[in-house]
Amino acid sequence: MTTEAVVVRSTDAVGVATSDESKIASIQGYLDRATDDLLASLRNPAQLSAEERRGIIARYAAVLEGNFIYWMTGAYISIRSNETRTKILDNLREEIRDCHPGMMRRFAIAAHAIPTDADAEAVHRNLMNVRLFIGRLSAVPILVTMAFFEGFIQRFMSYLAELAQRQGSAEMEYTDVHGVCDITHTQELFRALEAEMALESPMPEQEMFEGVELLRTLIQNIVVNN
Ligand SMILES: [Fe+2]
Repeated sequence: MTTEAVVVRSTDAVGVATSDESKIASIQGYLDRATDDLLASLRNPAQLSAEERRGIIARYAAVLEGNFIYWMTGAYISIRSNETRTKILDNLREEIRDCHPGMMRRFAIAAHAIPTDADAEAVHRNLMNVRLFIGRLSAVPILVTMAFFEGFIQRFMSYLAELAQRQGSAEMEYTDVHGVCDITHTQELFRALEAEMALESPMPEQEMFEGVELLRTLIQNIVVNN
């Protein structure tokens, strides 16, 4: 009787673990595809005009400089698991201690791409949509969105650096720091997501990826200005 009960429980536990792992793998797959699509849509820097190159850097800076820490803070205050909170806090500490917004600004200045009113206006609507999504403070969709953002940024850095070099800049601290493929960091975000998902009931795909889709639209807006 006792043995049987133990066997049943352990089988159930294995079943749950497997389904959580496959859920995480399918989220990772979705994010990889979204990132691949975005990177495939980038235009060759050699074929862009100087104004087009400046515009991409300026719109990117207009979004990143004032929002990355804000959105990561949104993740921090929406989550419930202590394990997750510690990971996000480490991320925020690094952003503030090493002054990443300052790094972003120096990068834009050196590339003669400080955001203008027109650059801010160009991303206004799509940026507002992401801000309002973060404001709903729904932990799992926000963590999925931030995992997507981190992964995209890493893979976008070589392109951004090339745009800046073609604008005559040699200031590459921002792209050097953010272009390192930090596997531990990404894995930690996914572990945090797993911990948070365990505390919430399952949600439809549309809700899970709502922020990813809004952010993807915003990034398209940055790189193509449409
Ligand atoms: Fe950063």
